[in-house]
Amino acid sequence: MELQTPTFPDLITRYRAGELEDIAAWAATRTMPAPVHVEIGSNRGRFLKDLAAALPSRTVLGIEIRRKFAELLDAEVKDEGLDNARVLGADAMLALPLLFADASLECVYLLFPDPWWKKRHAKRRLFAPAFLDLVADKLKIGGHLVVKTDVEPYASFIEAVLPCTERLDLVEPGDAGWPEHAESWPATTRERKVTAAGGPVWRYVLCNNGKPRSDAPYPEIDLDRFPKPEAEPGDNPPARRPRHRG
Ligand SMILES: C[S@@+](CC[C@H](N)C(=O)[O-])C[C@H]1O[C@@H](n2cnc3c(N)ncnc32)[C@H](O)[C@@H]1O
Repeated sequence: MELQTPTFPDLITRYRAGELEDIAAWAATRTMPAPVHVEIGSNRGRFLKDLAAALPSRTVLGIEIRRKFAELLDAEVKDEGLDNARVLGADAMLALPLLFADASLECVYLLFPDPWWKKRHAKRRLFAPAFLDLVADKLKIGGHLVVKTDVEPYASFIEAVLPCTERLDLVEPGDAGWPEHAESWPATTRERKVTAAGGPVWRYVLCNNGKPRSDAPYPEIDLDRFPKPEAEPGDNPPARRPRHRG
């Protein structure tokens, strides 16, 4: 597939020499027929495999930073004959700008991302204003970003970050921008565990409205407002009702 000449967002914290070349080498041996859905953080791949089976007319790419998991999953999708699934072991923040032209993706999933509670690690949080701009660049107009979490302070964090962009509109079932493929979304491993334990899930479906990037600097987000919960997520009933269940 043809690679882009990207400028990278300021979110990359773990870049190592040779990583771009590795992604390019991977891409040289793969095709990625449109429409393309990308799952960031596919882990063991339950969602990726179920989605690829449910949407055979789409290419479903999983990008997983833990290379061992990515290698295992890549072998599994081949064994299982999921011809429309692809798996890349890389940092999604490097891979997305390099692999995809602007306005090319149908859907991006960021499902149960690591919360990175410690203040010194907070830069690693994938969900951030620069991430939203990157995804808005890569999505087609009318394409979607789907985000889920079971961690209440992370849901509050998402809701604080969302107003940083005017390019992605929050949509609900029944809205004009609601994706027709939503009924095919399977549950992830994490989601199955949380819902089996009766825990809440917050879901945000964002539709790209086609507005251009703004030149304004990103606002500072006060991370102290989103402290780590004392109990593990799912242990306690939610202090407030989740915006969406499932
Ligand atoms: C908490 S797990 C959630 C896994 C899965 N989505 C689920 O719901 O069961 C987060 C996953 O994202 C991966 N990850 C974290 N940062 C990433 C990045 N920058 N690019 C790609 N994957 C990443 C982690 O290695 C991990 O597998």
